[in-house]
Amino acid sequence: MPKIYPSILAADFVSLGTEINKILNDADGIHLDIMDGVFVPNITFGFPIIESIRNFTNVYLDAHLMIVEPDRYLERFASYVNSITVHYETVVHLHRTIFEIKELGCDAGVSLNPHTPVFLLEEILPFLDKVLIMSVNPGFTGQKFIETTFAKVKKLREMANKINPTLDIMVDGGVNKENIRELSVNGVNTFIIGASIFHKENPSVEIKELKKAATGID
Ligand code: DX5
Ligand code: ZN
Repeated sequence: MPKIYPSILAADFVSLGTEINKILNDADGIHLDIMDGVFVPNITFGFPIIESIRNFTNVYLDAHLMIVEPDRYLERFASYVNSITVHYETVVHLHRTIFEIKELGCDAGVSLNPHTPVFLLEEILPFLDKVLIMSVNPGFTGQKFIETTFAKVKKLREMANKINPTLDIMVDGGVNKENIRELSVNGVNTFIIGASIFHKENPSVEIKELKKAATGID
């Protein structure tokens, strides 16, 4: 079954608890976009909000760190979330970073910007729980899906089949009912979705429909 982690970046932060309650029954986790205004041209939220979310629900929290020098903050993120994904483009000693995330008790992931090729992951792939393929340039919700992502994901799934068959392949940015099936066929099993869930009338219904679309049921 495909998994969906709604991205709360597309939610209304004034009513965050109400927004989260809309998706809790259907979501497999919640995606947290942490942006520092340096690695990406936007600033989102940090520890006080993440702590409040952790106190509000036990759901799987999937942190996507779009920050420079993520090593400085791994311990603090790990005290609240279940999974930490760092950007390939922000880390020098990736092997060390991944092992630290695991030692802190979290699932460990690497994210790739649209221009970063999947072959760069070959050596680190056996140690990863997940790879997050960016299908937009990171920074904002509601951007247009980059079509070359389909082929990129397929390449990654072929690599993973040989090196790490249980790898969680996630895609993030511009995912909707029109592209989710092709992503699924090409090997994505977890979908990060913001606008196509929270900007809709009934987020819970949207998640159910997106999952059906991913599996090819109409
Ligand atoms: C973009 C973020 C995404 C984004 C996805 O930098 O990493 O998680 O919120 O939102 P949509 O689905 O609206 O593109
Ligand atoms: Zn994200």
